[in-house]
This record gives sequence, structure tokens and C-alpha cells, in this order.
Amino acid sequence: MSVVPSAGNGKVTVPSILERKSGISSQNPSPAKITCLTAYDYPTARLLDEAGVDVLLVGDSLGMVVLGYESTLPVTLEEMLQCTRAVRRGTRRALLVADMPYGSYHDDPVEAVRHAVRFVKEAGAEAVKIEGGERRMELIARMVDAEIPVMGHIGLTPQSVNAFGGFRVQGKTEEAGEQLLRDARAVEAAGGFSIVLESIPRELAARITAELKIPTIGIGAGPDCDGQVLVIHDLVGLSFGHKPKFARRYANVGEIISRAAAEYCRDVRQGSFPSDEESYHTRAEQAAALLAQRK
Ligand code: KIV
Repeated sequence: MSVVPSAGNGKVTVPSILERKSGISSQNPSPAKITCLTAYDYPTARLLDEAGVDVLLVGDSLGMVVLGYESTLPVTLEEMLQCTRAVRRGTRRALLVADMPYGSYHDDPVEAVRHAVRFVKEAGAEAVKIEGGERRMELIARMVDAEIPVMGHIGLTPQSVNAFGGFRVQGKTEEAGEQLLRDARAVEAAGGFSIVLESIPRELAARITAELKIPTIGIGAGPDCDGQVLVIHDLVGLSFGHKPKFARRYANVGEIISRAAAEYCRDVRQGSFPSDEESYHTRAEQAAALLAQRK
């Protein structure tokens, strides 16, 4: 299947994501929820794409789960581009969205659009994600004007960790909830095609979802969003430290890797790896000569 969308080739596209929401009618009151997972490399992208995940997000969470930083703030544009290229090579059906890292869209809007263009032109992203609501309105509109679909992201936006004083649930007061509602409306009005709602009360996410015409994709925002996103390392048990309560673990790959590595060390130390069958051989007469030389 070509990764370029054409009618009926099954490729998930920006319009098909939008249709999930606009397709809601009395005949079809609950269309299939949008599934989204993060991916940062080729093999993971292939596995998730082939498993039928709708949207692959090259999240800047890679800074924490892959590179071992304490926050997403140090992640660079080049790191994001390199991972996006790898995910592109492993993705055929899913929509590929790349996160714009901290500092790549916070200053000059012309430079921000230039950076977003790099994700599309050099790395094969089909959309970018940027954090923030009302104050990103003008920037989102500029990107959409440059033919770059934008996914918004509000609530616990990790690039604001210093401003928030930590990773905390957002929108818990009436005032904060009203601000998030305004932020969500702003992303939609500016032309965003979907919006991530991160770590906000379920009731507020439901209200935003009911009001917006673009799909909401929740992470720690309850089940009423139009779709869900999780960090793949949390899903498969490859992350360390605090586990947020929404991060349901479906597998324990960390334990499988630890066990495999320990068994490998044991076999090497015992001399049972590699075996003769796992070794290459010369022709018989050459083997005999080599053996004779060893003595
Ligand atoms: O960087 C990321 O992985 C994200 C998702 C959690 C939405 O922004």
C-alpha cells in the first residue's frame, strides 16, 4: 500500500480522522474511537502500524522514555526529526504526527513554520503537534496556511512543567476549566484537526468533547474523548519511575528483556552460547589444517 493517500487504499488521513467526529449522526451515534500510540523507532512503528493503530505520534516523550531525560525540555529538533524519519520508514497505514519540541515554535513564528515544514518535507510527517491553546492560535493558523495539519495539545502540557511547578492534573477549578475550554475552542477556531487533552478531569474532557467539532484524543482525560493516546513504553512495561494511574500496562516487556539478557549472560559464561550449530564452518580439509595449526 502506498503511504500517499488515495481513495480506498485504507490509509488513515487527516480528513478520515475528522470524519470520525463529523460522521456522528443519529444513525451512527458512536463511531469507532481513534487509537493513537507513540512510536520513536522503525520496529515499533512497524508493529503498531501492522496492529492497526490509527495514529502514530512521535512524541517528545521520547526524551524521557528513550533518552532518559527528566523532562521533555532538552529534546532537540534534530532528535525529533531523526526519530520521525525512522517511524516514517515503518509506517504505511497510520497517520504519522510529529511533536514539535520545546523551543522550536516558541519564538519567531516564521522560524516555527520553517521547523514544521522540515517535519513534513525531510521526515515524512503528515501533521505536527504543538502544545498550548489560545496563545498558539495565530501560529496554528499560520501552519495550516502552510498546508501543515496541526494537532493541538492542552491540559498537562509537559513542556510547561516549570510553569506548572511539576506534572500535575490541570483544570480542576472552575476557572481553570473555563480557560481550558477557551483553549480548546481556540485550537479548533485556528484550524487544528484534533486536540490532545492530557490529565484533566473526565467531566471537563467530556464537556470539551461534546462542544468541539474536531476529535479530542485523551490521555488521563477519561473515556468520553473521541480517541485515546498512550506512551508505548508505559503500555508495554518499558518505563521506569512513577506510573500515572491512566497508564494501563498491557504487557511486561521490561521483564522479558531482563530475563533474556540474564539467560544470555549465563549461557556465554557457561560456554553454552554459541553452540556448534550457531557457528560458521570451513570446508573439512581446511578445518583439519586449521585444527592442526592450533596444536
Ligand atoms: O510526547 C508525547 O508522547 C505526548 C503524548 C503523551 C500525547 O505528547
